[in-house]
Amino acid sequence: MMPTLRNLEMTILGLGFLGLAWGKNRLNGYTTPNGVAQSDPDGQIAYLLDIFASLGRFMPPDVDLRGRDVLELSPGASRGNGVLFLALGARSYHAIDVFDLAGGEDPGFYERLLNRFPEGSPLDRARALTLAQSPGAREFGYAVGRDFDIPRLAEGRRFDLIVSCAAFEHYDHPATAIAAMTRVARPGCEAVHIIDLQTHSRWIREQDPNNIYRYPAPLYRLFAFPGQPNRQRPAEYVDSFASAGWSDVRFVPSRTIAPPLRETSLRNLAAPFAGQADMDILDGALTARYPGKPGIWDASS
Ligand SMILES: C[S@@+](CC[C@H](N)C(=O)[O-])C[C@H]1O[C@@H](n2cnc3c(N)ncnc32)[C@H](O)[C@@H]1O
Repeated sequence: MMPTLRNLEMTILGLGFLGLAWGKNRLNGYTTPNGVAQSDPDGQIAYLLDIFASLGRFMPPDVDLRGRDVLELSPGASRGNGVLFLALGARSYHAIDVFDLAGGEDPGFYERLLNRFPEGSPLDRARALTLAQSPGAREFGYAVGRDFDIPRLAEGRRFDLIVSCAAFEHYDHPATAIAAMTRVARPGCEAVHIIDLQTHSRWIREQDPNNIYRYPAPLYRLFAFPGQPNRQRPAEYVDSFASAGWSDVRFVPSRTIAPPLRETSLRNLAAPFAGQADMDILDGALTARYPGKPGIWDASS
């Protein structure tokens, strides 16, 4: 099929998917933070181990988390990453979200997760499990607020490492969240944020990964719902971090559009995406350091 005709077809189909996502949200609210069913603990464990490994890949080598305080933004359905950070010696883990998706998590799940994660000293692993299974432990915190007021939800804590996965693309105002996050960052704090830039709805994301970028803003906004992908591109995130005072800000792409889909995926996009040089990036990680004393990964810190 001619690329333009195919894209017309994808644009029409994509409108259906935008409507479907909007309708699903109206009916059920924000319920499925990732593609794995809550009733599938093994799938959830595999997902968490994969995310944790990805976060690790974007951190400098020889990470020593000992004595460090970690914040995860928007953990979705699980605080499992927190258990893994604690198992590696982190002093504390706190998670902040707008939707209470992890509130009812079964503490037994953390033991199953840890059994599949061979790292960390026996002492740190035991401490991680004790904290994760003690309701209300300050070293394993969780705060939810629809206003996403990060300093308030941090409840007086400050952090040496701030991470997130598949979260920033859902924020209504990423620059506001970045400025708020900065207020709870200690000097030397490191940030690692995995950001998924492509179309989220299944099926169409495989056929036409840039589908969400085919619609002019007023049409896209017609289907807006809390958590709808905000269509920000890497350069905007980099600018917002730099404006908030972070240094060494980088966006490292993880995946780009496969060659067979590349040409069609870059054609017929709406302004301001048409012709942008980075439109072949599907996802990646933003890393940055908050200036001040040396970063937490430096041997001298
Ligand atoms: C795709 S889920 C990712 C969750 C988790 N990090 C994971 O990898 O499974 C998106 C996360 O962003 C949060 N979120 C959605 N809309 C948001 C918004 N408008 N502002 C702030 N957070 C939002 C959700 O509560 C959820 O935790």
